[in-house]
Formats: sequence, structure tokens, C-alpha cells
Amino acid sequence: MSGLATPLDPAQDRPSRAPSCIFVIFGAGGDLTRRKLVPALHNLAIQGLLPACFALLGVDRMDFTDQAFREHLDREIREFVGGELDDTRWRELLARSHYLRGDFLQMETYQRLATRLGGLNLELDCAGNDLFYLATPPRFFGEIAPRLAQAGLTSEEGGYWRRLIIEKPFGHDLESARALNRILHECMREDQIYRIDHYLGKETVQNILAYRFANSTVEPIWNHRYIDHVQITVAESLGVENRASYYEEAGALRDMVPNHLLALLAVIAMEPPNSFGADEVRDEQSKVLRAIQPLSPEEVLTHSVRGQYGPGILPDGTRVPGYRQEPGIAADSRTETYAALRLQIDSWRWAGVPFYLRTGKRLPGRFTEIMVEYRQAPTALFRRAVKHRVSPNRLTLRIQPNEGIGLSFNAKVPGPSPRLGVVEMDFSYADYFGSRPHTGYETLLYDCMNGDATLFKRADHIEVGWEIVEPVLDVWQALPPRDFPNYAAGTWGPEAGERLLRSDGRSWRPCSLCEGG
Ligand SMILES: NC(=O)c1ccc[n+]([C@@H]2O[C@H](COP(=O)([O-])OP(=O)(O)OC[C@H]3O[C@@H](n4cnc5c(N)ncnc54)[C@H](OP(=O)(O)O)[C@@H]3O)[C@@H](O)[C@H]2O)c1
Repeated sequence: MSGLATPLDPAQDRPSRAPSCIFVIFGAGGDLTRRKLVPALHNLAIQGLLPACFALLGVDRMDFTDQAFREHLDREIREFVGGELDDTRWRELLARSHYLRGDFLQMETYQRLATRLGGLNLELDCAGNDLFYLATPPRFFGEIAPRLAQAGLTSEEGGYWRRLIIEKPFGHDLESARALNRILHECMREDQIYRIDHYLGKETVQNILAYRFANSTVEPIWNHRYIDHVQITVAESLGVENRASYYEEAGALRDMVPNHLLALLAVIAMEPPNSFGADEVRDEQSKVLRAIQPLSPEEVLTHSVRGQYGPGILPDGTRVPGYRQEPGIAADSRTETYAALRLQIDSWRWAGVPFYLRTGKRLPGRFTEIMVEYRQAPTALFRRAVKHRVSPNRLTLRIQPNEGIGLSFNAKVPGPSPRLGVVEMDFSYADYFGSRPHTGYETLLYDCMNGDATLFKRADHIEVGWEIVEPVLDVWQALPPRDFPNYAAGTWGPEAGERLLRSDGRSWRPCSLCEGG
């Protein structure tokens, strides 16, 4: 399907340039900077959304001059822009890129940073707004923020703004997440802190709110009377790659559930906000997360599943080693690479509707999808006439890849006998709106420059996320797994993951449109 029912006027509501600012990246020599942040700045530049007065200032311990930093970026980012590099815009962006060498843990780095920012703001005649992105290993979050504050770089007394962006992991458990929030709040106000969950930067996730609240056919049946259950899957076909030391400490549950999967659940399950103001939207998300019933230790045993992949064969025929054979992984590692949960939201809307969450590495496909299964229609009318079972309607919200929405429904198969078949209506984002180069960070960086925190997580979201998973972590730690590895790479996870739904008379839906699915 393609073509818009109502054509869009591209000039209408065209977003304007972000306000002037200097974008400071701590960890400018690192992976996130070259793969995501600078390519996203390039993409914002080609859309005409970067501020008129803008500079990038990279901070790292690598031995660069401004010129060497520009050459490094020029070498590193081309493959990550997600499309054609616009040479003119890219040269302009490089000319606005600067570098400061320093150690994150030394106070003198921040004194020199303050001087450098003062100089750049004066030289460029910028407004004095500074945005600090901590593209660093997480152990530095609680070290950099206090030093910025001590150097006066979080103060907004001059009438300009100062903002800080950090990215997960936000702590390792509830206690460390609270401790990090405390440190950050000692250095700046909550509204200066932008906690990125890059899933929320995806158009399709934002589109869930539009789909739910801008269509009168959706919301009236978006509740326990019509919905049987919801499945949220974040599947990866990759293994642990080069993240062994982080992943051994984290595991699939910590790495994915308190942040990405619960962010998706909140968007699906939240009540309509009074407005799209940042706090109205985030208040509703916070409320629904707080309504999730914490699992008792007994429920953890029946409502959660963990797994670790062993050697196996991927759908393309490649043989891959098991998790315990990956470089940097202990030969007797007990870290889970697969986690599934059955959660229940204690609210009028969702009473009795299970939310099944699963995530895993080395599954047969890479996809992120939410499947909403409606209740079965009464079948009396078809019982005698139709040999085939009436299937429940299923709404699939595809977050990646093949972003879009699918709805399955029953239709009569042509012919003299009354047969039903399941057919699909499909909306594909790329077909309707085209696709433009993106890394997933463009909207988030642009929103932060504009002071719009709607898509960012608040301190309370982080803490409630940990409150939900902590009972599971506690039981899992008390009862070490005895059957790891319990699924072969290239399969859909452990048998217990299938049983989690089968015992409720349901099953995971296979991904139809994903790579390798
Ligand atoms: N990479 C990704 O695509 C990605 C995706 C999503 C989220 N993230 C998150 O983003 C953050 C950054 O990840 P990353 O992979 O970019 O990290 P990284 O590659 O380790 O980069 C951090 C940079 O900081 C430098 N650095 C380390 N300690 C320093 C110190 N004391 N003083 C000055 N510089 C120092 C590092 O230099 P050395 O190399 O010399 O240590 C490196 O250049 C992490 O929180 C990660 O979880 C990353």
C-alpha cells in the first residue's frame, strides 16, 4: 500500500532551527560519538534544524588538536549517517567542531572547559546555552556532573540554559539508580537532566501515541474488554559482540527491561494525557508503570524465564559459538542472554490482561515489535458453517525494521463453501512517508536543544523500572540457573519461554516481516 489518503503539505508545520547552543560531548573519541551523535548532527544539519549559532566541542583524553579531531570525524562517521553524506553541510559542521583534551576526573579539565566555552560563545556570538552529552562509560556519570557544577557549568544564572544528557544504564539496581539520581539532583534541577532511551526517539514509538489518541476507532476498544493480551518483543540476532565485560555484569534483564521494554509498555498502556506537555505525558507513563503489580518470589518462579544461548546455527547457515565460548565471557557464566516476563497492570483499563515481555540475543531475527491480540469474536455464527477456527484480530506495531502497523482480520475465502482466512492490512512507514537518513538520535537531540523533555525519562521512571525488575533479580540471584545454556543460538529461546504463554493457552507470535523472521 502506498500513497497518502490526504496528501501532506511539506511546508506546513515545518520545524524551525533549534536555538543557539554549544554541544559538548564528553567521550568525543568514543564509539557512540562516531556511530550516532555526530551522524545525527549531520542529519539535523541537512534538514536545516541545527541552530544558526552552533558549535560542537569534543572532550576526551585522545591526543587531538581541533584539526586532528575534524580529520578523525571525517574518517569515522561516513558509514553511519544512514544515507548520503551532504558534503557542503558536513564541511560546515566540521568547521564548527572543536576539541578539548582532558581527563574527566581532573578538576582542571572543567576549568579549561569553562574558559573554552566562554571563548567560543564570545567568538561565535552565541547565546551562552550549553548542552553536555555524557557519551562515556556510565561510571563517569556521577563524576562528571559534580565537577561541571563545581566549575559553575550547570548554573543558569546568566539567563541561558545548561542541560545534561545521559544514556542508560541508569544504575545497576534500584539502590545505585537512586544514588545516581541523588548526585545529579545535587548538581542541577530535574528539568536540566535529559535521560535518553533511544527507543523513544523512533518515529514508530512516537506514532503509537498518534495512533492511539488521534483515531476514534482505537481508544474505545483499547482495554480489557476487547484486548486479550499484549506481547512486546525485542529480539536480537547478534551475540554479545564486543560488550563482554558490560554484559557479564548486566545480563538481558538489566540491559533491556527496566529501560526499553518498559518504555514501550508505558506508551502502549498509559492513559491519555491532558496535553502533550512533557510532564503530562510523563506523569501518565509513571502512573501506569506504578500500577504494574510487583512479582512475589513465588510468581517470579512462574512468571519469569531466563536463558543463555549455546552454540547453534543462524538462519543464514552460519555456525556460531555459545555465549560461554565468546571472548571475554567466563566458561561457567551464569549471565542470562534471554529474559521473558509476564506482567499485570492493576488498573480498570488493564484488569486481567497479561503483558508478556521478551528479549534475547542470538534469536533467529532482529526485530522490535508490539503485538496486541484482541479477544476472540463469538464463534456461534460460524461454528457449523465454517470448518476453520475464527482467529482473533491482531494488531502489530513494528518498531524496527520495516516500521509500520499491521492488522489481521478474518475474511471469507472466495468460493462456494463458507471458509474463513486470515488476511493482513499493512501500513508501512517508508511507503507512505518515504525514509530519510536517521540514526534514531536526531529527534532526541533536537528536542533537547528545544527544551522539550517529553521523550526523555524522568528520575521516577528510572526508579519504578528498577522496582519492577528487582524482585526478579533477587530471586534469580538466590537461585542460580542450573540448566544454562538452555537454548541454541538461532532459535527462539528456551522451551520455558514457550511454556510461559502455553500455560495461559497462548503462544508467542512469530515475526512475519522481520529480517530472518
Ligand atoms: N557505542 C554505542 O553505539 C552505544 C549505543 C548505545 C548506548 N551507548 C552508551 O553510550 C555511552 C558511551 O559509550 P561508548 O561505547 O561511546 O564508550 P567508549 O567507546 O568507551 O567511549 C568513551 C570515550 O571516553 C574516553 N575516556 C574514558 N575515560 C576517560 C577519562 N578518564 N578521561 C577522558 N576520556 C576518557 C575513552 O577513551 P579510551 O578509549 O582511551 O578509554 C573513549 O574515547 C555508554 O554509556 C554506553 O552504554 C553506546
